Amino acid sequence: MEVVINHLKNNFNNYLEELKDYLRIPSISTLESHKDEMIRCAGFAVQKLKDAGMTRVEIFPTAGNPLVYAEWLGKAGKPTVLIYGHYDVQPVDPLELWKDQPFEPVIRDGKIWARGANDNKGQHFVHIKSVEAFFKTLGELPLNVKFILEGEEEIGSDNLVLFLKENQDLLKCDAVLISDTSMYAKGVPTITYGLRGLLYVEVEVTGPDRDLHSGSFGGAVANPINELAKIISKLHDKNGKVTVPNFYKNVLKLTKKEKDNFNLLKFSDKQYAKELGVKELHGEKGFTTLERLWTRPTLDCNGIIGGFTEKGAKTVLPSKALAKISMRLVPNQDPVKLAKEFTKHIYSLSPKSIKTEVRTLHYGYGVVVPLESKAINAAAKAASKAFGKKTIFTREGGSIPVVVDFVKQLKAPAVLMGLGLDSDDIHSPNEHFLLENFEKGLYASAYFLDEFSKM
Ligand code: BES
Ligand code: MN
Repeated sequence: MEVVINHLKNNFNNYLEELKDYLRIPSISTLESHKDEMIRCAGFAVQKLKDAGMTRVEIFPTAGNPLVYAEWLGKAGKPTVLIYGHYDVQPVDPLELWKDQPFEPVIRDGKIWARGANDNKGQHFVHIKSVEAFFKTLGELPLNVKFILEGEEEIGSDNLVLFLKENQDLLKCDAVLISDTSMYAKGVPTITYGLRGLLYVEVEVTGPDRDLHSGSFGGAVANPINELAKIISKLHDKNGKVTVPNFYKNVLKLTKKEKDNFNLLKFSDKQYAKELGVKELHGEKGFTTLERLWTRPTLDCNGIIGGFTEKGAKTVLPSKALAKISMRLVPNQDPVKLAKEFTKHIYSLSPKSIKTEVRTLHYGYGVVVPLESKAINAAAKAASKAFGKKTIFTREGGSIPVVVDFVKQLKAPAVLMGLGLDSDDIHSPNEHFLLENFEKGLYASAYFLDEFSKM
């Protein structure tokens, strides 16, 4: 292993340059205008996997963005690891808040700054390079490796989920390795064993069939923005509970053991509030912050559009208002059933004076994976070796929609060995990735392949 680790160490600066090239591609999956960039980005990943030494490297077109697949199956009798990542990124707005251009990566203060630096190009790139280091030094991998990289994680992974259903043999494996989560704190190696699911909807309210003069008509017809605001305000009760009927019906209760484990993490509300720039935290009564983040479902308005939003004033009574709402779900909530409950609830809150439409954009199930598996043990050991500290186990508030499908369809444990930090500003201006985590992530990846090959 020493020669592999040394190779990774000695080539770190080259990897950074290559990662920068990857980050220069604006692969924003939610923007139709960026289709060509998605294809270009998939092509870039293909080239890197080929250069790394993977033998079969292929693009699989989908109804959406292409999937990138690679394999090297030269170790009969040894386990197979499927490494998952996503090459798509989130939009960059508001652009004026970026210190650098989002797609012109910069290295400063021991970090690499760009959209995708953490989520997820930087994180999955470590695995491509660790595989390459094995080939370059030992001429082979210690076990069989497959890669599946998608370009639609940030929009719900629909096409990968379909592909998975139809290609279980191709993706068959003994474990799925994913680096797309955060470490509990800087320097603390972390394995995540639970993710929340998601239900993302839009609520559109229409009043009059055109914008109206707010003086001539104000007082005569319902204002869609006012009405939408009223609806949104009724989605939580005074205890911070979501008012959608049956919302909590199937929520899995936290076990005493898990509760105790969370308490061992010594989470500080005060420190957390300070880091986020708020005077105090907020949320569902009766649960600690970690419980609320990791084990409780939530509902949040993600965006609201309507009326006049330019500088200055315009006296207008808008025809339409729209809210984008996400619900983070936990096991065993069913997003399909909840979409129906949510829609009914919104209609029941809508007065006759407006027309309301609810649209589901995407959804995914929450997941908790068993902590006892060879793959998780190997990952915990590998991360400890790389970071020089004991690995801890956390759950996570974010979502990776395909994980549930991996676990169910492939019947393989998912190992979430995250290298990001909550302070990396993913989905936000000035996203960045700690160079130290990039470097130690390379080692952790190599150690994992080695450890798991021995199990
Ligand atoms: N890497 C994130 C998930 C994540 C976020 C893990 C924060 C750990 C900490 C992933 O790329 C992501 O953002 N997922 C989306 C999925 C959604 C758009 C379907 C999310 O959670 O919003
Ligand atoms: Mn993301």
